[in-house]
Amino acid sequence: VLIKVKYSGINYKDALATVENSKIVSSYPMIPGIDLAGVVEHSDTHAFEKGDEVIVTGYDLGTSHFGGFSEYARVKEEWIVPLPKDLTLEEAMIYGTAGYTAGLAIEKLEHNGLSIEKKDILVRGATGGVGTLAIMMLDSIGFDVIASTGKKGAEDKLKALGAKEVISRIANSDQKALGKRTWQGVIDPVGGESLSQIVKQLDYNGMVAVIGMTAGAKFDSSVFPFILRGVSIIGIDSVYTEMRQRKHIWRRLAKDLK
Ligand SMILES: NC(=O)c1ccc[n+]([C@@H]2O[C@H](COP(=O)([O-])OP(=O)(O)OC[C@H]3O[C@@H](n4cnc5c(N)ncnc54)[C@H](OP(=O)(O)O)[C@@H]3O)[C@@H](O)[C@H]2O)c1
Repeated sequence: VLIKVKYSGINYKDALATVENSKIVSSYPMIPGIDLAGVVEHSDTHAFEKGDEVIVTGYDLGTSHFGGFSEYARVKEEWIVPLPKDLTLEEAMIYGTAGYTAGLAIEKLEHNGLSIEKKDILVRGATGGVGTLAIMMLDSIGFDVIASTGKKGAEDKLKALGAKEVISRIANSDQKALGKRTWQGVIDPVGGESLSQIVKQLDYNGMVAVIGMTAGAKFDSSVFPFILRGVSIIGIDSVYTEMRQRKHIWRRLAKDLK
């Protein structure tokens, strides 16, 4: 399907794709842009026709298939999501992959029991793409959100987005097996060693949605939070989400998460 691209976004992964000898680009030349929204110009399939408004995020886009930073993009029909009602092409790419991923993380946490009746939710990397959009979405569906940031002076902005409270970045500060039960759920685009501390601070049956690694890719943990508090680590992959769930998340981004 040939798409006339109207909007794309700049994501963390686009930056990774443009560094020299990038590990995520499989061959050169490559046009970056891991997401796009546009209008079908030509279709060789019955699933789409000229004039349809569509979204594409993830898969090989911008890494091993020419991406969204282009006037036209030719992609497989299996990658395409029809633009939901109540969302414009521009809004879709204001969300972009970061917003889609925040929505997917919220959906998966809810599926595992996230509830406005329980303790607070922590959003790490709060001033980032995933973080800011996660705060706005969680606030819009009624959760109390605590935002964790390393940026001094971001408090007013984060509160204006919907955070109830703003705290500093959480460090991996002690060797204890368990910490104070603080979070029912955590949206974590940060990762790194401090993820161990986050796991120790989860409430009974608490969950952390692990999304990214801006602070590093490795962390250690004992088994104790898992066997004494029943906590879960939930992995979030926006790239290969299956199509039914992908369409569902985009519909939510046009409705209750908007
Ligand atoms: N799993 C997926 O499918 C998926 C999808 C989208 C993104 N991601 C990943 O998620 C991560 C974040 O993406 P993004 O779009 O939100 O990126 P971003 O806009 O660059 O934001 C990242 C945020 O992380 C925080 N941060 C940066 N360095 C840090 C450090 N050393 N220690 C702790 N926090 C640090 C900062 O927030 P504060 O200054 O407020 O603390 C920063 O704003 C990336 O690793 C990206 O690849 C994964």
